[in-house]
Amino acid sequence: MLRSLLFLLPLAGATTIESRSSQECPGYKASNIQQDATSLTADLTLAGAPCNSYGTDLKDLRLLVEYQTDERLHVIIYDVDEEVYQVPESVLPRVGSNENSNNDTVLGFDYVEEPFSFTVSKGDEVLFDTSASTLVFQSQYLKLRTWLPDDPYLYGLGEHSDPLRLPTNNYTRTLWNRDAYGTPNHTNLYGSHPVYYDHRGKSGTHGVFLLNSNGMDIKINKTTEGKQYLEYNALGGVFDFYFFYGENPKQASIEYSKIVGSPAMQSYWTLGFHNCRYGYRDVYELAEVVYNYSQANIPLETMWTDIDYMDKRRVFTLDPQRFPLEKMRELVTYLHNHDQHYIVMVDPAVSVSNNSAYNKGLQQGVFLHTQNGSLYEGAVWPGVTVFPDWFHSDTQDYWTGQFDNFFDAESGVDIDGLWIDMNEASNFCPYPCTDPAGFAISDNLPPAAPPVRPSSPRPLPGFPADFQPSSKRSLKRAQGGKGSKAGLPNRNLTDPPYTIQNAAGVLSMSTIQTDIIHAGEGYAEYDTHNIYGTMMSTASRLAMQSRRPDVRPLVITRSTYAGAGAHVGHWLGDNLSDWAHYRISIAQIVAFASMFQIPMVGADVCGFGSNTTEELCSRWASLGAFYTFYRDHNELGNIPQEFYRWPTVAESARKAIDIRYRLLDYIYTSLHRQSQTGEPFLQPLFYLYPEDSNTFANDLQFFYGDAILVSPVTNEGSTSVNAYFPDDIFYDWYTGAVVRGHGASLTLSNVNLTHIPIHIRGGNIVPVRSSSAMTTTEVREKGFELIIAPGLNGTASGSLYLDDGDSPEPSAVTEIEFEYSNGVLHIQGEFGQDTPATVEKCTLLGESGRTEVTQSFELSGSKEVKLK
Ligand code: GLC
Repeated sequence: MLRSLLFLLPLAGATTIESRSSQECPGYKASNIQQDATSLTADLTLAGAPCNSYGTDLKDLRLLVEYQTDERLHVIIYDVDEEVYQVPESVLPRVGSNENSNNDTVLGFDYVEEPFSFTVSKGDEVLFDTSASTLVFQSQYLKLRTWLPDDPYLYGLGEHSDPLRLPTNNYTRTLWNRDAYGTPNHTNLYGSHPVYYDHRGKSGTHGVFLLNSNGMDIKINKTTEGKQYLEYNALGGVFDFYFFYGENPKQASIEYSKIVGSPAMQSYWTLGFHNCRYGYRDVYELAEVVYNYSQANIPLETMWTDIDYMDKRRVFTLDPQRFPLEKMRELVTYLHNHDQHYIVMVDPAVSVSNNSAYNKGLQQGVFLHTQNGSLYEGAVWPGVTVFPDWFHSDTQDYWTGQFDNFFDAESGVDIDGLWIDMNEASNFCPYPCTDPAGFAISDNLPPAAPPVRPSSPRPLPGFPADFQPSSKRSLKRAQGGKGSKAGLPNRNLTDPPYTIQNAAGVLSMSTIQTDIIHAGEGYAEYDTHNIYGTMMSTASRLAMQSRRPDVRPLVITRSTYAGAGAHVGHWLGDNLSDWAHYRISIAQIVAFASMFQIPMVGADVCGFGSNTTEELCSRWASLGAFYTFYRDHNELGNIPQEFYRWPTVAESARKAIDIRYRLLDYIYTSLHRQSQTGEPFLQPLFYLYPEDSNTFANDLQFFYGDAILVSPVTNEGSTSVNAYFPDDIFYDWYTGAVVRGHGASLTLSNVNLTHIPIHIRGGNIVPVRSSSAMTTTEVREKGFELIIAPGLNGTASGSLYLDDGDSPEPSAVTEIEFEYSNGVLHIQGEFGQDTPATVEKCTLLGESGRTEVTQSFELSGSKEVKLK
């Protein structure tokens, strides 16, 4: 469609309004419509007596429609006085039009003047049609309903633990960030991503992003007449829609990245295996775990420490007895000397008994205050706490100052990455939280005591003398728990007339009170709650950059909002050690990585809460190796689950890590591509087979990049998996055997506990390191093997991106494209690195088995290599 045809004439009487319920409001009338080739504006005036159902109807609105690119339409409906809250640009910078488009828009906008409604279409196909109900724009409630085709294939609307393909009947997605222990399904979880994807097979995929951070219920259901709809019910903000189109789902994800930003590139080492546990007793236990991993020959790239390291769980402090600075520095030096890394947790809430961090924050005035001017106090792990106000102009300075000081490389805890948590923000003190001290849990901390050795001390060869045996008793584990949830609020910003289905209860429950007014522009927490965690993420990333400007900061956060991937990675929070959580992690990671553009993502491997089992942990150790963020983490009080605890788990981990580490450059190359273009790495099956409807709801298998199909065993007690193979050619990773897919499931049997079925998809060339190693640093020293897996047409292609692995703006990079056809491998690209990588062998897969061509050559310039 030509750009000039973008805006069609109003549709005369084309709308059928559903019968009005008593709650129906008058809707709006459009007038003063002005349009040019790239935009349309109109006044929208309330078309009757206000219904004031959940607040006050706003009489005068404005409509702005912008044709932004060939594939993107921006439609915003906002109040004429522009007093209503909109997500600040500082949190999500807005994109404008792309001047370089081809004047060939695919999305059309039509409207009905009264009652005002609009449609977004592609050709004859209507994608969005708001005539499904009258528009409601009130002081505390927005409602808009769109018709959809019957039983559509909808995805997104995270964060949730529901199936990848969203249910279409009687389904509500609530977006209100919360500390969601156990990540129950059908509830709101830690983050908010108000974007859905509507996949229509051959007709392509479009996305609808509502840039609104208010709490909301999005309902997907059918009317009593059986008509399918999706309905937004938001507690405020404006209707700020971005409609984007892709010829296929992958392209739609790319379009989304252009709106919210493409993801931050991570350092090479961050792709190594991470180990954590809540409840490590002391620095000796950390050393013991590091040692045990090396003894078990399981590569441990990064050791993590939870809040245990803190003095009474107060951020920016060290427990002087159990994690004394001098020994912590020794441990970190040990790790660094062995090319290993160290990460600790930081929570946003600052303890009022934390003399340094609290007093400095008070001095700088950066903590949240209630409306009566007193400091707002809640209770988190350390007991009574205050919360940084990320909107205050001095908070960044404060936060960076704390990091510079506490994490100083010369005199503090020299971390390599950061883990931020409880940033929904979580508050154990139930609303109205009149007595935060009553919810202090620090009493449960282990008694202060001198540092001790593990209960059966033994030498830890290679560790400093301090870590070698002497004798003392071990400390008891800290015992903690979440606060209870109760409370009855009754103010507008805390008890709005429309109630969203927040699983925590009222809006302010278990979080910061929503009538708090922030510094600066004076935003209400009511409006900005869902961006608190993302603001902390950005501030923490900047703080990490300030202390180490020469490296890419790794920040893993629990709470996210749309666009967070540009700054941070995400773990899925407090899952449980059960099969349901193991399975659902697949849908969750692919949604985050491909649909929300947060590709650095993983679940707690072997499960966080409750006790894992050897079988589950074995399966999970190998599934987790195919997350991008691969970390074993476990809750205090449960049986320990480091991979070396059981022989099968250890074996499963060793085998899977071996594969992962050989694939590190393939992963790194794909993540680099995503950071540049938004092209997703982790993908659901339908991303690569968008016309095969059998793939649309498959969320138990996934693609690890375009070339690797992962089909884990997903049931307890089973040693087989029914894996779907689209009509294409695949090759068994382990044997090279051809699996010709015919759009049907195949039973893969004899999948023992240490094995995970993976297949290379024909048409791909996968660069792998010739062997694995105990650290990613060592892996980078190995040569390459090129695995060539011809597609049905006999050709294959792939790419390889190499840089120094760490610099924010690497100066010397190598970017190679491989093409294979007719027995010849063509290599070309940019070869910017001083020391070229070496290919040691090429392996050609085919019907007749594997052909290994051992031929060593340097990746130093374009060349052709004959393989047959
Ligand atoms: C939260 C985190 C969890 C962590 C615990 C203690 O529950 O989600 O990962 O172990 O707090 O800090």
